[in-house]
Amino acid sequence: MKETIQNLTEEIKGFSPTSAAEVEEKRIAWLGKKGLVTLLFEAFREVPVAEKKEAGQLLNELKQLATLTINEFKASFSAAAADNAGYDITLPSSPLVKSGSRHPISLVRNQIIGIFGRLGFSVSEGNEIEDDWHNFTALNTPEDHPARDMQDTFYVSEDPAMVLRTQTSSVQVHIMQSQKPPIRTISPGRVYRNEAISARAHCQFHQVEGLYIDEHVSFADLKQTLLYFAKEMFGQDIKIRLRPSYFPFTEPSAEMDISCSICKGAGCNVCKHTGWVEILGCGMVDPQVLQNCGIDPVKYKGFAFGMGIERITMLKYEVKDLRLFFENDVRFLAQFESAG
Ligand code: DAH
Repeated sequence: MKETIQNLTEEIKGFSPTSAAEVEEKRIAWLGKKGLVTLLFEAFREVPVAEKKEAGQLLNELKQLATLTINEFKASFSAAAADNAGYDITLPSSPLVKSGSRHPISLVRNQIIGIFGRLGFSVSEGNEIEDDWHNFTALNTPEDHPARDMQDTFYVSEDPAMVLRTQTSSVQVHIMQSQKPPIRTISPGRVYRNEAISARAHCQFHQVEGLYIDEHVSFADLKQTLLYFAKEMFGQDIKIRLRPSYFPFTEPSAEMDISCSICKGAGCNVCKHTGWVEILGCGMVDPQVLQNCGIDPVKYKGFAFGMGIERITMLKYEVKDLRLFFENDVRFLAQFESAG
């Protein structure tokens, strides 16, 4: 066997083909199913144990040499063929024209996280499938409460005590149940409502909830925090105003408008010629909610706010139709490539 291996090794080393067909012929003769190397491997089974080690090593080397030689000649003939066909395969390939970019909703979510991060707010996440208590009851919205009608809810059919969360306010409850004040956190995430899909509404969208609980938190802190946010997000000239409003889980409650970033307050379609657009709801956490979540309402106070990321994005980038965010049309998405 040793001799056969040596002879074949010599033959392979001296191989100098003149065509691709010759290479293929030898590939079959050496490495094919009935090729010499293959047959040698079969014969190897009969080699006495004492000689197996040496013979095995020689055989492996032979196979490696044959494979390498065939591959090298194959490559050189196909390169030559390509060369003859008129192209240079050594040229670098053209760069990828389009690489992916962040979705505008992710961009704005990250900007929001950055702004509140600079004020010391951490980021927390909750569950998209939520129990009724965290989504509603703990937030002062028991089953018969009329405020439930403000949000058309998807219930889980197997278990009506579970819902697709309608608001990221549910994360507040988890945080207050599991952490001790001081608490300063925002919770971005997806929410769901049973709404007809239109340019201004969708059955899924994104919100960011904010929560700050400590011993001496006041409405002035809330206002200053939101003013800072509005200026960082929309520019230093932006003005804010707070209008009294109602949410079951805050008392007092307010809605915040910003001066219209599109017409700069002169009046346009987006602000319905009022010069102001609403961007979020907020208020002081209702003492009953603190109590529901195991926080002492005498010792601690807090503020909360919630905003829709789509809405902020639409205002910031003048997007007129909410549905564009969910269609994944690259012609739309590519426009935000440099916005990060
Ligand atoms: N959860 C409210 C909504 O989805 C938004 C909201 C309003 C959140 C006031 C708050 C708040 O934390 O204080 O409409």
